[in-house]
Amino acid sequence: MLSGKTVLLGVTGGIAAYKVCELIRMYKRANAEVLVVCTPNALNFVTKLTLQNLSKNPVAVEEFDVKDFNPEHISYADRADIMVIAPATANTISKIAQGVCDNLLTSIACAFTKPVIIAPAMNCNMWENPVLQENLNKLHYEILEPESGYLACGYEGKGRLCALEKIFDKTVELLNFKPLNGKKIVITSGGTIEDIDPVRYISNYSSGKMGLALADVAKNLGADVTLITTKDVSRKYNVIKVKSALDMKAAVEKEFDSANCIIMAAAVADYRVKEISQQKMKKTSDDEISLTLVKNPDILKELCTRKKACPPDLLPSCPMIVGFCAESENLLENAKEKISRKGCDYLIANDISRKDIGFSSDYNEVTILDKNGGTKKLERADKRTIARRIFEEIYG
Ligand code: PMT
Repeated sequence: MLSGKTVLLGVTGGIAAYKVCELIRMYKRANAEVLVVCTPNALNFVTKLTLQNLSKNPVAVEEFDVKDFNPEHISYADRADIMVIAPATANTISKIAQGVCDNLLTSIACAFTKPVIIAPAMNCNMWENPVLQENLNKLHYEILEPESGYLACGYEGKGRLCALEKIFDKTVELLNFKPLNGKKIVITSGGTIEDIDPVRYISNYSSGKMGLALADVAKNLGADVTLITTKDVSRKYNVIKVKSALDMKAAVEKEFDSANCIIMAAAVADYRVKEISQQKMKKTSDDEISLTLVKNPDILKELCTRKKACPPDLLPSCPMIVGFCAESENLLENAKEKISRKGCDYLIANDISRKDIGFSSDYNEVTILDKNGGTKKLERADKRTIARRIFEEIYG
């Protein structure tokens, strides 16, 4: 399954380090070349000799252990097809998220441009620490969340390294499954911001997580990705920051001719303030004030109209157009009406009245509608899994 592929396994200093001995055997059985790099602390839990014997390669630990006059972090980053960090401690995750390169493993991760899998394992309180979660969110990697159970530290909770099969399967999936190779995918995300005056605006609760998950997954599936977002995002693919619906419309329209697929996951404001005050609006003695709102263009609908106007011979080169549909009631009924009104190829319907999915949540549950009347429900899962399933469905 992994013939001709090189897996770079990064091992950090946690008790679960002993488990990766079996993971190396799994990779070897699948004919992968395995390179192992350890943090110095990892070797308190597992020996270099064991890792070396199992991987049939020298184990790298310290930088400046230079061979062939190549800086080791760059040559490792170049040689491997994928990097798998397991177990990943809170310390190493946070360092990578902050761009700290104080050992060989973190230096390689910083220089690595191909897919990276992170399988964290730690005490449950460390896992729940908001700073760690914030750092994890900064990484555009495949995160295989720890499992719940008894932990080596004596606690019971979420923190155990996930099943090795899960890490192995994800490795195979990322290395072999590149259905979006050669495709340019444009994704919008976040809530648009419609200014009222220099200090106030109208917006919504979209965090941009769904669009970001789609963009990260598309990148891992081999696509050339452009993310048009209202949020601050730092990624190695093309990110265009926009603010208002009008900015977003201009940015999306520019991409139309070169895109194979446009996915509108952004929550676009339907209305904007008619006249933005140039100065901060003053409080008056009136108990009520009125703002006049004007309709924003419907970007999705206009894209679909542009596609429909394409001469038949040019239609195959027009992008597939996918909308999202945020509903707080009658989800399917409203989504069916919306797909026929807007005319997109697919519409992904999600219920934004639920707290455990949709707006701002790390999870979603969606129904995919296609233009021929077909529907497919994707059960609740983290947004990356939902994103992957959406690509499987639309490019299946
Ligand atoms: O960002 P998160 O916190 O992760 O939340 C994700 C999400 C709930 C925002 C996302 O999954 C979602 O549902 N996005 C669409 C939100 C929305 O605007 O839905 P809508 O039903 O109002 O619009 C339907 C479609 O038309 C959407 O693709 C929207 O981008 C598009 N639209 C809407 C209005 C407008 N003026 N122009 C548009 O293009």
